[in-house]
Amino acid sequence: MPKFEFEDLIKLEKYYKIALINKIAGLKSANLIGTKSNSGTSNLAIFNSVVHIGATPPLMGFILRPLTVDRHTYSNIKENGHFTINQVTTAIHQKAHQTSAKYDQGVSEFEECGLKEIYIDDFPVPFVVESNIQIGLSFQEEHLIAANNTRLMIGRIEKLILPDEVIKEDGDIDLVALDTAAIGGLDTYYAAKRIGRYGYARVKEAIKKLD
Ligand SMILES: Cc1cc2nc3c(=O)[nH]c(=O)nc-3n(C[C@H](O)[C@H](O)[C@H](O)COP(=O)(O)O)c2cc1C
Repeated sequence: MPKFEFEDLIKLEKYYKIALINKIAGLKSANLIGTKSNSGTSNLAIFNSVVHIGATPPLMGFILRPLTVDRHTYSNIKENGHFTINQVTTAIHQKAHQTSAKYDQGVSEFEECGLKEIYIDDFPVPFVVESNIQIGLSFQEEHLIAANNTRLMIGRIEKLILPDEVIKEDGDIDLVALDTAAIGGLDTYYAAKRIGRYGYARVKEAIKKLD
């Protein structure tokens, strides 16, 4: 059974280490982050680190790699203060993956990767037409993680758009019906399979199955 101590991990070959460490967190969300530069070029990139930060106020965040190279998503957010989070479906996962290529600053990944952009109401940055969950956010905070120079970028949800009739009476949504994709590491995509939904867990009470 392979067993690694910290000293073993840091000595691993670079790409082996990246593949291994990226995958051990399990399945992660698959989202496209849309932004726009002040010079007018739209930008789209895939992220597997989008997280829910809180519901009141409604906040979401993502982890941004160190600024050792140009990071267009970051510079655009700092320029105009807005970004969109667009959930990847299984139908568009290959196009979504292609957005991770290093396109030049003046090039839009929407065009290059075959995804349609849409501006909704007066929101200043584009959403992905093919995405079933479209979220528009205003930039709130960034937190430098000193341990490795990554950043936690946090935005406030200003606009949330879902297809008709997917929200249940209690606010739940069916991610399988929305064709949600998930990501393992940086290279493997998965479709969702629902295995159970349960009520608030209480000590000494059996878990309650929900529909
Ligand atoms: C599956 C996958 C997940 C990724 N997740 C992240 C992430 O969470 N954070 C990050 O900084 N880069 C992530 N990347 C890398 C970015 O997609 C890539 O650096 C992209 O070129 C950034 O584009 P930009 O310079 O237009 O912002 C991921 C790449 C792939 C293939």
